[in-house]
Amino acid sequence: MSKSEAEKRILELSKKLNYHSRKYYIDDDPEISDAEYDLLLQELIRLEEKYPEFKTPDSPTIRIGSKPVSKFETVKHFVPMMSLSNALNEEEFFDFHSRVVKNLKTAEVRYSIEPKLDGIAVSLVYENSVLIRAATRGDGYIGEDITENVKTIKTVPLKLSKNIKGIFEARGEVIISRKGFEELNLEREKKGEPLFANSRNAAGGSLRQLDSKITASRPLEIYIYGVGKTDIKYLSFTEMFSDLREMGFRVNDLNKYSLLPDEVIKTYRNYLENRDSLPYEIDGAVAKVDDFSSHEILGATSKAPRWAIAIKFPAREETTKILDIKVQVGRTGVLTPVAELLPVKISGALIKRATLHNMDEIERKDIRIGDTVFVQRSGDVIPKIIKVVESKRTGDEVKFEMPINCPSCFEKIVRDKDQAAFRCVNASCPAQLKEKIRHFTSKAGFDIDGLGEKIVEQLVDKGLIHEFSDIFKLSKEELSALERMGDKSAKNLLDAINSSKKKSLDVFVFSLGIKNVGKHMSEVLASKFQTLEDLSDAGEEDLLNIEGIGPEAANAIRSFFENETNRKIIDNILSSGVEIENPEFEKKTEKTALSGKTFVITGKIEGYSRPELEKIIKDLGGKTSGSVSKNTDYLIAGEKAGSKFDKAKSLGIEIIDADYLLSFIEGK
Ligand code: IVH
Repeated sequence: MSKSEAEKRILELSKKLNYHSRKYYIDDDPEISDAEYDLLLQELIRLEEKYPEFKTPDSPTIRIGSKPVSKFETVKHFVPMMSLSNALNEEEFFDFHSRVVKNLKTAEVRYSIEPKLDGIAVSLVYENSVLIRAATRGDGYIGEDITENVKTIKTVPLKLSKNIKGIFEARGEVIISRKGFEELNLEREKKGEPLFANSRNAAGGSLRQLDSKITASRPLEIYIYGVGKTDIKYLSFTEMFSDLREMGFRVNDLNKYSLLPDEVIKTYRNYLENRDSLPYEIDGAVAKVDDFSSHEILGATSKAPRWAIAIKFPAREETTKILDIKVQVGRTGVLTPVAELLPVKISGALIKRATLHNMDEIERKDIRIGDTVFVQRSGDVIPKIIKVVESKRTGDEVKFEMPINCPSCFEKIVRDKDQAAFRCVNASCPAQLKEKIRHFTSKAGFDIDGLGEKIVEQLVDKGLIHEFSDIFKLSKEELSALERMGDKSAKNLLDAINSSKKKSLDVFVFSLGIKNVGKHMSEVLASKFQTLEDLSDAGEEDLLNIEGIGPEAANAIRSFFENETNRKIIDNILSSGVEIENPEFEKKTEKTALSGKTFVITGKIEGYSRPELEKIIKDLGGKTSGSVSKNTDYLIAGEKAGSKFDKAKSLGIEIIDADYLLSFIEGK
């Protein structure tokens, strides 16, 4: 290749790659595969190495990161990066609106509203459409130059898709999605590195790396919410955001424009209601007076403009007191300490308990009975104790100690070899039995409707259930004698028990509650062993030969089936009329694994939270995405499906409901 041919090819490749990068990251509508993209990128890297003089300032290879720096230079912002004033509730938003109305002397004020992302604010400066500088907010006047780091963020355009003469400054929030955060921390845990406390810290830490190659490896993203220095005279946010989009910036699809105050609050409530199903953390909404000429009239305080306000979500963190610490005995006998709290309302729910996980956690956080603590509620997860408010200590707090005897069966508690867990090793401990029965009858197991927590509790306490098979021997008389059980519900329960007797091998294996054997592992086992007998006779070698089964699981499966008591328990289930079928033997994993399939979820799916559904799909090898593109294979539409539904329809993507999805997953 001649020098001039190389120059031409470098230009062509840069252009092509930037185009496809935009299609993928901004438009969510890729036209080529990752492999094809990579091939082009490798070609460009090679050519640029040979002819560095032809590397363009917006070359996509810049995203890989460049040489480390020894410190960040400071930069003075062209226009100060202001903060926002806060409304702590809806009423305070209406107070703000009244002030706006008064100052503008007009009753007809319209707002744009956007989710308030919880990340790091950055300024992006473009000169003649090319990104020349990126900086942190700093104190609002002076920030740090993090250009090389920001260039590695795929959703930051290195060159604008529109020709803009001179300086154009965009501002936005750099974030890490929940999924990106989880994966990042998982990786750090594996490497023994300290974990990030939340996604905001992770985003901040990643942006502040002196080596941009490290930043490049972090899942950073950006959403643009405003402009700084520019000669463009926008009339409104409606107009500004549409122009930003045309320039190739990523703008949040949840933004709404030109709304009346009541509609602002309606949207705010909508954000609040759906915050847990968003792929990233938000901590409120930002309402901005839409019309830019009003901004000049309203002006600003020294800290924040008078034309915008952050409407914060109610706190998910509150302080309360630990009244006591009790222990719960799990299915495998592990003791989990649980804090009993002085009930406290956190974002609408009354919180009375929080798990303390294990003794290590209690010691690490130095949590004592009587302590005042920060309690956090996030999404569907069990409330967590973040930390102790040490200044509230009176000296009367009591250190917690694990009991010596099991609170349920009073047998001696044993500490595991690795010291991590305390365990009740009594195989007939009632607390363990209750948990085992609950697992056995759960939806993913024998799926016996009507056998809830309270009923299981009574059945075990009354000595009617000692092992799984006893479930199938219960009589109508025994059931109707229970509390909260009428004749009719006893009959229904009995019917449910009887009709649960035919089970596929994977469900049967899952129900047994073998350590390390979850839903997916059970499916793998059922695809490799035709009968339960084959599985129970399998040696450790046979198990280790199966993809996805490691030494720990192999060992757990082996020891489970080697145990005489367990074999007897299984025999008893089978002699009480339970039949196992395995029609999916050998073809099941291929058929059920959703490998290579991309799912998008919209609307509410009864019985499953978004993270649960995503986990099911992921466990089976499928992928999930937040938005519909032509690469989507299935749209799972629940109640109140939104715009994704229309988009999927227009792209001809198969739309399935949750039932269909579940049958697909379970291969029924
Ligand atoms: S507008 C002058 N819009 O919140 C107004 N800020 O508490 C400038 N933030 O520093 C900010 N999402 O980092 C705006 N949609 C949004 C935002 C947003 C998050 C952050 C931003 C700002 C901070 C103020």
